[in-house]
Amino acid sequence: MSQRTARTFPVPAIAPSLLAADPGRLAEEVARVEEAGADLLHFDVMDGHFVPNLTFGPGICEAVRRTTKLYIDVHLMLDNPDVFIKPFAEAGADNITFHAEVTDAAPELIGRIHDLGCDAGITVNPDVSVELLRPAIGDVEMVLIMSVFAGFGGQKFIPAALERVLTVRPWLREGQRLEVDGGITSETAAEAARAGADVLVAGTSIFRSPDARRAIAAIRAASERQG
Ligand code: DX5
Ligand code: ZN
Repeated sequence: MSQRTARTFPVPAIAPSLLAADPGRLAEEVARVEEAGADLLHFDVMDGHFVPNLTFGPGICEAVRRTTKLYIDVHLMLDNPDVFIKPFAEAGADNITFHAEVTDAAPELIGRIHDLGCDAGITVNPDVSVELLRPAIGDVEMVLIMSVFAGFGGQKFIPAALERVLTVRPWLREGQRLEVDGGITSETAAEAARAGADVLVAGTSIFRSPDARRAIAAIRAASERQG
């Protein structure tokens, strides 16, 4: 079992997803959500193979690292996370989450993430049993429950994710974080928090809002009321 202590964040913690930011103005977009009260920055990495979309590589992560003190929460949607753990750790990631359905070596990957000084997270897509998370769950700082299929921003929250949060929450000990990702608005954030989520990823509802501070505050207020 891991001896690492996860970084402490407010409960709930709000993690804007850079996927929904204006890609031509990434530095300003990161500053906008940092000033608006973000607790983490969610960084979606897609390979065009595990998911039918391409996003950011380690070079962009390093550039973002230079512009912000925010905790960078990397979500690897890749068939081969083993190849990219070190490049993202060196690019300044604070947490690296990978999909358990792509590997038979989850404990080894988690060990490598820790050896490189990062927190580790595991996740699976909504059509994969959460039982797949169980063998390695004691070793991670973060468990991510996907509330959309990995691949695109702007999708609708899948309500069955709430049942999965309720299932997984009792498997976690104090200090391990349960993150929900996809389709989070103030309404769905409240439901996710009520089920036991304490890190809420939101792309569209924060970055596509004209007032990011207000959007973050609305998600925070709606989910705090559930605590
Ligand atoms: C989906 C990504 C999510 C996505 C969330 O593959 O993992 O992080 O950016 O975006 P919204 O909040 O727009 O659903
Ligand atoms: Zn994500």
